[in-house]
Amino acid sequence: MTAFWSWYITILTLGTIVALLWLIFATRKGESKGTTDQTMGHAFDGIEEYDNPLPKWWFMLFIGTIVFSIGYLILYPGLGNWKGILPGYEGGWTQDKQWQHEVDKAQAEYGPIFAKYAAMPIVDVAKDPQALKMGGRMFATYCSICHGSDAKGAVGFPNLTDNIWRWGGTPDDIQASILNGRHAAMPAWGAILGDAGVRNVAAYVRQDLAGLKLPKDSNADAAAGKQLFATNCSACHGAEGQGMAMMGAPDLTKPAGFIYGTSLIQLEQTIRNGRNGLMPAQEQYLGADKVHILAAYVYSLSHQETEQASK
Ligand code: HEC
Ligand code: HEC
Repeated sequence: MTAFWSWYITILTLGTIVALLWLIFATRKGESKGTTDQTMGHAFDGIEEYDNPLPKWWFMLFIGTIVFSIGYLILYPGLGNWKGILPGYEGGWTQDKQWQHEVDKAQAEYGPIFAKYAAMPIVDVAKDPQALKMGGRMFATYCSICHGSDAKGAVGFPNLTDNIWRWGGTPDDIQASILNGRHAAMPAWGAILGDAGVRNVAAYVRQDLAGLKLPKDSNADAAAGKQLFATNCSACHGAEGQGMAMMGAPDLTKPAGFIYGTSLIQLEQTIRNGRNGLMPAQEQYLGADKVHILAAYVYSLSHQETEQASK
């Protein structure tokens, strides 16, 4: 800021404060006992304004705001090029510096705790009540929008409590899912298999792999679907439909783990149009130490019984 504008702002700001002080004192009426019956001479619909002194609390509040603003203008930048003398902020306060202070403070406070858990294996962190509490809080903040506050998922978002995994359920797999994200690619088969082909393979998935009943009036040919599955689907989902964690291809023999639904209509839609589930990578956003605790938390969700049993 040039010296001119700096002085311009300073004089205008201080001038306003002085003017306000003058205004309040110049027009202030002495404290009179009780109220007066003198009116201001305004009348509206028979309502008249009395000429009473300002209430004391109001007057003190007004003075208080002026004292506050002077204190503020000394500590913080506000008057042109004046940087303020707030303790702890060499060269003046800025939003960035305050944010950095808070980050440093949190780092000093929580850094050692995160570092302690980062050095522990995930299975052990998953048994630590303090870590699980931290993990639960982070999960609520960063993950529950998609996976639900109970981590049980929703359509399109997997349940993380059932020990059925698309990308693998070892502590390392879970950590990798969170750290690097996952992008599933189920191709669209509508154009290749045609309507009848889609219907037949969907019937095969539902009846023979997932073990669910077909509607009585279904005219789908599951045996033909089986052939189609062997040629087109087993490369990713496995010959027995058991899935392949490396590709994120789900186990089609466990309908509880399906995220796009198990009805024939839903299955046909998945097969006809394909699916592209996306788990966003968290490493850049949360950092490896937080993800480590989150991975332990997620791992604990489907390993509670075994933990309790081992106690
Ligand atoms: C290139 C590998 C690949 C091939 C080939 C493939 N799939 Fe998939 N499939 C996937 C992946 C990956 C997913 C997970 C998609 C997601 O999570 O968004 C998936 C998801 C599915 C689902 C949804 C399961 C759920 O969670 O709701 C069904 C059903 C399915 N596939 C059936 C088939 C059938 C039938 C074929 C053959 C016609 C087939 N897939 C071929 C990779 C493949
Ligand atoms: C924007 C929505 C979204 C957010 C936010 C999100 N996820 Fe996911 N997550 C997904 C989707 C979708 C999948 C499944 C990807 C697929 O189709 O294979 C997934 C998959 C996963 C998996 C792998 C599950 C499996 O069966 O292998 C884990 C573990 C996971 N998420 C944990 C987390 C954690 C922990 C957080 C919070 C840091 C989180 N997710 C935040 C959408 C999300």
